Amino acid sequence: MAVFYSFVLCFILVIVIPTSAGLSPESFYTAECPRALSTIKSVVKKAIDREPRMGASLLRMHFHDCFVNGCDGSVLLDDTANFTGEKTAFPNLNSLRGFEVVDEIKDAVNRACPRNIVSCADILAVAARDSVAILGGTSFSYNVSLGRKDAKTASWEDANTNLPPPVFNLSQLLSNFQSHGLDLKDLVALSGGHSIGLARCITFRGRIYNDTDIDPTFASSLQKGCPLSGGDNNTAPLDATPKLLDNVYFKSLLESKGLFHSDQELFKNITGSESDNLVKHYSTNPSDFAEDFRASMIKMSNMKPLTGDEGEIRLNCRKVN
Ligand code: HEM
Repeated sequence: MAVFYSFVLCFILVIVIPTSAGLSPESFYTAECPRALSTIKSVVKKAIDREPRMGASLLRMHFHDCFVNGCDGSVLLDDTANFTGEKTAFPNLNSLRGFEVVDEIKDAVNRACPRNIVSCADILAVAARDSVAILGGTSFSYNVSLGRKDAKTASWEDANTNLPPPVFNLSQLLSNFQSHGLDLKDLVALSGGHSIGLARCITFRGRIYNDTDIDPTFASSLQKGCPLSGGDNNTAPLDATPKLLDNVYFKSLLESKGLFHSDQELFKNITGSESDNLVKHYSTNPSDFAEDFRASMIKMSNMKPLTGDEGEIRLNCRKVN
């Protein structure tokens, strides 16, 4: 009898009580497709083994999905006769990477499951979570809520207006994050995502030639790979350890070595600045950075998901069913 009651209790907790935003706990797919999450992780792991940067690219893909009308897989949709998708919006064009890896994950999951049950939006959330854990280690591991449905439409306009550009100042960055229900701590912690990956010259040229709050030696070494004209797609690492998710990004900001104008805006050495204080704190307390990064990732991953009867589960992440 006791076994029966504990079964019923587990059933109620797992099935009936959703986590925030109408999502379900990480065990969501376990009953119907026990191998779903391990399948995603193994494709992500292989992709990162092939190219460590892919972990960064998958993290950014999830961010760019969530910031445009919620984490609904809309970023993955190709253009159709009815809409121009997000892939060609300015923040994404020739910039967002990893679409083939998402296709690979979707194929693998569809083979591992009895039917099409894992949404593309959930795949992005899990792939970002796994990338973070692979590049950051156990202190960056967290559980992700699941049950997101996929959007049936995407918006080029919204991708252009909702994603922050690297020329934003602190108050613009903060109001952008606030418009997504995130706060200053989320802004600073999540900007720590710039501890991994690379950026194209075109995105930081203005800073290395015009900004005055940049270490001159750092600026001139970047200018070698990023001339005043040409070389738009040449890349530079976002911090000194681009294959490791760590707090080196925050240490660099203290030395005026933020790659983007927007990065350096988080630390301007102004007494009493809340943002400066967070950057200083994370630069010397890696475990607090990891803890806040995990919490803010969970907040971002749960932004405005489609659940229940909303949306669909796409068969192919690039197009609506
Ligand atoms: C705060 C506002 C932000 C701005 C202005 C911004 C801007 C950018 C830009 C311009 C790039 C380079 C794109 C290119 O070279 O084509 C980049 C790369 C990247 N961003 Fe951000 N970003 C922001 C926040 C975030 C957040 C919240 C995350 C994740 C939590 C993130 C993760 C990344 C990663 C991992 C890369 C490297 C991607 C790769 O190597 O493929 N960014 N970001």
